[in-house]
Amino acid sequence: MTDSAKLSLGAKETELKLRQGTIGPDVVDIAALYKDTGLFTYDPGFTSTASCESKITFIDGDEGVLLHRGYPIDQLAEKGNFLETCYLLLYGELPTANEMSDFSYRVTRHTMVHEQMSRFYTGFRRDAHPMAVMVGSVGALSAFYHDSTDIADPHQRMVASIRMIAKTPTLAAMAYKYHIGQPFVYPRNDLSYAENFLHMCFAVPCEPYQINPVLARAMDRIFTLHADHEQNASTSTVRLAGSSGANPFACIAAGIACLWGPAHGGANEAALNMLAEIGSKERIPEFIARAKDKNDPFRLMGFGHRVYKNYDPRAKIMQQTCHEVLNELGIKDDPLLEVAMELEQIALHDPYFIEKKLYPNVDFYSGITLKALGFPTEMFTVLFAVARTVGWIAQWKEMIEDPHQRIGRPRQLYTGAAQRDYAPVEARG
Ligand code: CMC
Repeated sequence: MTDSAKLSLGAKETELKLRQGTIGPDVVDIAALYKDTGLFTYDPGFTSTASCESKITFIDGDEGVLLHRGYPIDQLAEKGNFLETCYLLLYGELPTANEMSDFSYRVTRHTMVHEQMSRFYTGFRRDAHPMAVMVGSVGALSAFYHDSTDIADPHQRMVASIRMIAKTPTLAAMAYKYHIGQPFVYPRNDLSYAENFLHMCFAVPCEPYQINPVLARAMDRIFTLHADHEQNASTSTVRLAGSSGANPFACIAAGIACLWGPAHGGANEAALNMLAEIGSKERIPEFIARAKDKNDPFRLMGFGHRVYKNYDPRAKIMQQTCHEVLNELGIKDDPLLEVAMELEQIALHDPYFIEKKLYPNVDFYSGITLKALGFPTEMFTVLFAVARTVGWIAQWKEMIEDPHQRIGRPRQLYTGAAQRDYAPVEARG
């Protein structure tokens, strides 16, 4: 096994160290490349670049494998629950029964938000997108919880982490309630994480709200499936924002802003809108043709992934959960589901999609499930943000606790004008 790579530049040869992870490809350590050769590397979109060292999540995109701290996502989603996964991501090991009940207690004791936050919400327009409200309100937490913004203090870091996991669902439910003009519903600490979230979203003061265990289990699975996903765009955003020493609430707000885009977390909303636009099975060929047309910017939303070149392992569980929810609610001939199933079959057999390895991703089925659970499409990305908060915070903590951590500062290939002299306006032709 070789432990270095050689880079030849004319007569000069530079030796670059290879580093091995536990699993996954080796990396060429180029940290000293500029010092040794005066060269930068160029990799827009980071297709071949490992931006950090991490022990949290591993993805093998070719095999369709996703592991959190070594545990396969299907085992965590099917046998465990979201809060347990949060513990695992944050602390590195599955909790014992005592550790779990202590963690659960700590999270539930932080579910309320400062009462003044409710007045903060009324500053938003009622028709604001709930993701816009989330970017603002999560960022605003740093104005309310000064006692957990000292990133150099391990205790404050942990308090901020627990606060983020506990309060994001409350803020998300408030964004939803504000959007539809209903009163905010306070959290209930006797409920599980997913049950409490459904309660805060769907309960009203005038009648009791019955939690359906099948739907609560589906909500919990959706959270678990979205908990972390290695160094994706929003996680890298959180790490980059955090590398400057910014407080964790501000960093997570930056992550939420990044997640909002349709190529990332906004895809579940976009996928459902696309299914509605297609409308019936008969129109699918027209949209498949558009997706293949190089001159048409249209893409099949919910298909393709930067890393997975095989079935997204999360999509399999999401598909099963989707059917469980539809059965429980007695939704049989849902036209969107029919279009989705047909589209999936066509795309899986079409040479264009096979050749480019475009499989359905997690967002393809999560949209249909969330719609059946009663959420409007604008809330889909918000739910993704609630789930991903633990991943962002675990990655942020790992970065802050890394003794080699430095501010993230990429370089560039400059292709603009070379140096030139300023000319007064009357002398400009
Ligand atoms: N429909 C049609 N063609 C596609 C699609 C699609 N959904 N995705 C990729 N392609 C084609 C693309 O046109 C390109 O073709 P060519 O090589 O001929 O130029 C080729 O496949 C490679 O695409 P790419 O854009 O270079 O791939 P990428 O790794 O930069 O993009 C992606 C990955 C997820 C942004 C992209 O597949 C996409 O836009 N998918 C739809 C949006 C979506 O579902 N996003 C959710 C991702 S999963 C949740 C998350 O992690 O946030």
